[in-house]
Amino acid sequence: MDFNKTLTLWYSEHKRELPWRRTKNPYNIWLSEIILQQTQIAQGQPYYNAFVSKYPTVFDLANAQETEVLKLWQGLGYYSRARNLHTTAKHIATHHNGIFPNTYKDLLKLKGVGDYTASAIASICYGEPTAVVDGNVYRVLSRYFGIDTPINATDGIKEFKALAESLMDHDHPSDYNQAIMEFGAVQCKPKNPNCQICPLNDSCVALQKNLIDQLPVKLKK
Ligand code: ADE
Repeated sequence: MDFNKTLTLWYSEHKRELPWRRTKNPYNIWLSEIILQQTQIAQGQPYYNAFVSKYPTVFDLANAQETEVLKLWQGLGYYSRARNLHTTAKHIATHHNGIFPNTYKDLLKLKGVGDYTASAIASICYGEPTAVVDGNVYRVLSRYFGIDTPINATDGIKEFKALAESLMDHDHPSDYNQAIMEFGAVQCKPKNPNCQICPLNDSCVALQKNLIDQLPVKLKK
């Protein structure tokens, strides 16, 4: 079976039930993806719930005081994320009538929204076939294809983005992106992955060459 089909099948059987997986509302997806950027799902989930319950819409977040937003963010770290979140909420409320842009290209223009977040929102909410590349995706692709290009230099960033795009399931962009991220988080874990039960183990280059612990390669800077 091919990489895509195996991943998507795995996802349909193993995906975790998470609050932001019950919606395609771009406000909720944006919020969840910003929170999850440098944060594990288990740690981020209570914050997501707290934000949605205190600020159910982008207007509620836009109208909040910054000190209040930062207080709710307390413990998550990287406070520029929270400041950008508030700035972007105000921008969307004031200049876009509260409606999020609906393409990758326009989403990228928002403060705090980079390639990863724009791809996630565009694929999950609007079905645009833009591939996400986060730490999970680097790990899955570098191991499965046996790629040792460093993931934190220009070449690697380009190479993995192009590979992820080439693997995109154009009929199911949202499931494809979330499947590969979830697979990296749950099955193809950084330390001691259980390769014996992995549905991709018969064609994984890193497993065959005993390189699981060596990939992905990250340059010390
Ligand atoms: N990590 C961050 N966002 C995610 C998503 N939408 N699905 C799986 N893992 C994620």
